[in-house]
Amino acid sequence: MANEQQGEPSACSAGTQKMAQKIQDQMIESTLGKIKHKLLVMSGKGGVGKSSMAANIAVGLANRNFKVGLMDVDLHGPSIHGIMGLKGLLDITEGKIVIPKTFNENLKVVSMQSLMQEEDQAVIWRGPLKNGVIRQFIADMQWDALDYLVIDSPPGTGDEPLSVAQTIPDARAIVITTPQEVALSDVRKSINFCKKLNLEIVGIVENMGPFSCPHCGKIIELFKKGGGQLTAEKTHVPFLGSIPFDPQVVHACDDGTPIMSQSIDNEFTRAMNAVIDKIIG
Ligand SMILES: Nc1ncnc2c1ncn2[C@@H]1O[C@H](COP(=O)(O)OP(=O)(O)OP(=O)(O)O)[C@@H](O)[C@H]1O
Ligand SMILES: [Mg+2]
Ligand SMILES: [Zn+2]
Repeated sequence: MANEQQGEPSACSAGTQKMAQKIQDQMIESTLGKIKHKLLVMSGKGGVGKSSMAANIAVGLANRNFKVGLMDVDLHGPSIHGIMGLKGLLDITEGKIVIPKTFNENLKVVSMQSLMQEEDQAVIWRGPLKNGVIRQFIADMQWDALDYLVIDSPPGTGDEPLSVAQTIPDARAIVITTPQEVALSDVRKSINFCKKLNLEIVGIVENMGPFSCPHCGKIIELFKKGGGQLTAEKTHVPFLGSIPFDPQVVHACDDGTPIMSQSIDNEFTRAMNAVIDKIIG
């Protein structure tokens, strides 16, 4: 077996590697240089609605005529693809540059799913590999000049948000939670993660808040109440608002048409727009 394969790289291959790294750094810098605001949507807990929130925030920003990019860095369960109704794989130019999919005039989307050959293949990535993939994903993406890049991440404070935080040092975090105590203790972990990495936090969004009964209009608090605001106060992080539980979100998710893209005026879209006001502010 050759020496390099056993560990110690030869001086030559180390040089090549350094060069490749440098080129990638430059590509990342030039891609990110064209993007004004980078928002990392995260949460400590799974299933609280990160992907749904990321999608609806991105669409809501695009509705206001901002140029927006939406991407997910969820290597295990990328769901932006489905939520945004994307079909097929992404186009890649001869120069190996990835062209995002067009959702509408103001919104372009890339999902890791659209780089994977088979829809349901399970992907097992080791940490360092993940970091490499995410860096490359960011470097190779051909974004036009953007006002906002919204990044959906998997739950927790693992490799993916870490890679994003390290690759995009000026990213700011939006932390999603439900009003429930278990979700909230995980939120505190997310906030500590951001503080450790010097990631500025835009604020906390409480999702799956009050549900108004379609039969009698009575308010039902499925996941309790007010926890997001309380955590925000305790951790001195801005509270961006509470998004109601709305069964339409589930249908919209399955149909690939986020509610914010459907010109509906209801509790959900009003709450979403109030959150977007705060993000812009
Ligand atoms: N406000 C809401 N009202 C009703 N259903 C919602 C709401 N927000 C999200 N959902 C539903 O909850 C489920 C989980 O949402 P989503 O996939 O966005 O969560 P996630 O945090 O991204 O999950 P994961 O941790 O697996 O990435 C989906 O079926 C989605 O349609
Ligand atoms: Mg998700
Ligand atoms: Zn009722």
